[in-house]
Amino acid sequence: MAQYLIEMKDISKTFPLVKANDKVNLMVKKGEIHALVGENGAGKSTLMSILYGLYQADEGEIYIDGQKIVISNPNIAIENKIGMVHQHFMLVPPLTVVENVILGMEPRKNYFFIDLKKAASDIKILSEKYGFKIDPWTKIEDVSVGIQQRVEIIKVLYRGAEILILDEPTAVLTPQEVEELFKILKSLKRQGKTIIFITHKLNEVMAISDRVTVMRDGKVVGTKETSQTNTSEIATLMVGREVLLITSKEDQKIGKTVLRLEQVSAFNQHKYPVLKDINLSVKEGQIIGIAGVEGNGQTELVEVITGLRSISNGKIFLYEKDITGLSTRKIRELHIAHIPEDRRKRGFIADYSVAENLVLGSHYKPPFVKGSFINFPEVNRYADQLIKDYDIRPAVKENLLKSLSGGNQQKVIVARELQREPILLIAAQPTRGLDVGSIEFVHKQILKERSKGIAILLVSAELDEILSLSDEIAVMYEGRIIETLINKDVDKGKLGLLMTGVYK
Ligand SMILES: Nc1ncnc2c1ncn2[C@@H]1O[C@H](COP(=O)(O)OP(=O)(O)OP(=O)(O)O)[C@@H](O)[C@H]1O
Ligand SMILES: [Mg+2]
Repeated sequence: MAQYLIEMKDISKTFPLVKANDKVNLMVKKGEIHALVGENGAGKSTLMSILYGLYQADEGEIYIDGQKIVISNPNIAIENKIGMVHQHFMLVPPLTVVENVILGMEPRKNYFFIDLKKAASDIKILSEKYGFKIDPWTKIEDVSVGIQQRVEIIKVLYRGAEILILDEPTAVLTPQEVEELFKILKSLKRQGKTIIFITHKLNEVMAISDRVTVMRDGKVVGTKETSQTNTSEIATLMVGREVLLITSKEDQKIGKTVLRLEQVSAFNQHKYPVLKDINLSVKEGQIIGIAGVEGNGQTELVEVITGLRSISNGKIFLYEKDITGLSTRKIRELHIAHIPEDRRKRGFIADYSVAENLVLGSHYKPPFVKGSFINFPEVNRYADQLIKDYDIRPAVKENLLKSLSGGNQQKVIVARELQREPILLIAAQPTRGLDVGSIEFVHKQILKERSKGIAILLVSAELDEILSLSDEIAVMYEGRIIETLINKDVDKGKLGLLMTGVYK
């Protein structure tokens, strides 16, 4: 056997505007968990897409177990037992879990009658074995982002992958789910599987990986034994400077009530109650953090406030003015900004440029229109400014949004929403997929809004984010707010228990 199971040698890949990979060397040993880290846009996803045959390298070679192979498409990757779970899900929403899992696999005799059932039972077994808790017959469009991620992982396991590439698998998971995933990864490793794991969370690198490779600006800047390094060394390698991972928060004068929910209840599409008698208020200069395990009503809470979901009972007030039942556009016009949790569904238009996405939602109003024409000089000036302020890379406003790295797409949304001078900011998972430097930046922006007296509702699956930003923490469980805590000396363990529904 070769010393390395995977050898990527001198891999380069240039896109029209950037050299995404520049003579990259990545060596992965059989049976190891290899972390791949680097800033947003460093080239991690591109490198893995090359290994999985989605992109072709302009130069360089790939060896699997000492054999040179040309991976010209994902089928060849799968034949070589390489599987990839993408940063952005590749599932078909109207189809069921089982249909999605077998999608693209070789059809066999009586495909729909026999194999679908067999596949469903196989999925059930996998699901139970790893604690995925997935019903093979539910439709993807009806499940949360977290569950979709698990379906993607099952899909790869189902295809018998020996090498698993996971592109930011934990970005969408709750702390408990991350722990479960890590148990799975460890057991996969014990069975000899090899895992490449992309993450922005350096504590995860320390917790799960055997070795770690750091990328910056398309190049590899180092590979280390995890036991021989630490988070600050990795962060410094990544960013080229030291990163402050703690945000300090000043005391803040609390003003009038901006948002108030009174006994709000709502159903989901199956007429099942998802919000139950929610009472909540957010005041000027206050950050209310919503903590909870994903799927306990947080998504629906944001939807009812932003007008995306109608409520069955209760009232919603903005500065004591009843806004219950207003349309999404009307609500936006009231200066409510929204950083959506599922950016690909609600946040942007992938085939529009960065500039167009930055003015989205305000594009029909001055200064972006003049008479009945788009005011291009103003749109361009505005876009250039935001690209600079938010360090959106590459700094080219004509780029289509879909060509940006995941983290840079998120920065576009955050920039657009904060720039609207809101009175109320609804921030759902605002730093999902961002690198440490960018998280630090976005946290500072959110705190800046707070000190301007903006009311902020923060929904996050990251306990650390909730704890470092919120003034008060409301814990959601099964559609209710079961407790509200002043964020002074909140005990993380107690908060974790509350999130699982354990309370007085
Ligand atoms: N299809 C594409 N067309 C043009 N440019 C692209 C394309 N895919 C990636 N890029 C560019 O290549 C660079 C590397 O992107 P990549 O997605 O590999 O970064 P990443 O390290 O995965 O970042 P993130 O942590 O934000 O996911 C970025 O500058 C990105 O804009
Ligand atoms: Mg990526």
